[in-house]
Amino acid sequence: MSSCCTTPPTTEGTNKFFSRHSKRYEKQFRKKGLAKEQQLLLNGIRKESVADQQVLDIGCGVGALHLTLLQEGAKQSVGVDLAEGMVEKARGFAAKMGVADKVNYIVGDFVQVSKTVPDADITMLDKVVCCYENLDLLLRESTSHTKRVYALTHPKNNFIMELAFKTHILFTKLVRVKFRPYWHDWTQMRSRIAEMGFQLVHEQATFSWQVLVYKRV
Ligand SMILES: C[S@@+](CC[C@H](N)C(=O)[O-])C[C@H]1O[C@@H](n2cnc3c(N)ncnc32)[C@H](O)[C@@H]1O
Repeated sequence: MSSCCTTPPTTEGTNKFFSRHSKRYEKQFRKKGLAKEQQLLLNGIRKESVADQQVLDIGCGVGALHLTLLQEGAKQSVGVDLAEGMVEKARGFAAKMGVADKVNYIVGDFVQVSKTVPDADITMLDKVVCCYENLDLLLRESTSHTKRVYALTHPKNNFIMELAFKTHILFTKLVRVKFRPYWHDWTQMRSRIAEMGFQLVHEQATFSWQVLVYKRV
């Protein structure tokens, strides 16, 4: 995990990559609903109350998580994603699901726009920490915006996932793709979240993803 740098990384490649793939995410949510790891994440969040809560969804994609929480009684949500294509699809779902008046979208790198984002009771980062180079900055900015519950998923910390990620990273470097995923030190990430004042209250996993829900102590 890079902890030295205070400069946010360049994200144009990530924007292009996920904007291009946003159709796939849109189809997945429209046809199949929440992915398994998202269901597990919401299970953990629901252990704490959701009603009347302010939600912050960082790397919100097409909006599956925060839109579901709004339908379940959350008060308001902010969805931030640096991929324009993802946010466009999220706006479409918000309108269809009848919660457009309860959600604000911001296109941009959360680290760079965080000063304009209000604090939230519940913050979520689903499959985001492995898409951003400066994990330390992302953790600092996102935890400092969180009043109660901090929920995230990250790639499972095992040999198969590490090999899969590192092979993918090598491939993207070789063919000079502008977006690449990141394999961070996930154990160190947990320690950092604990140092920021959070206690792990829920943990589950799918084959590929580790699901963690923390509560501010
Ligand atoms: C793998 S996708 C997951 C999307 C959504 N959370 C889901 O699970 O369907 C990761 C998303 O995080 C976004 N992202 C990555 N780093 C970000 C950052 N620093 N600020 C805002 N969005 C970010 C990407 O643009 C991408 O849409």
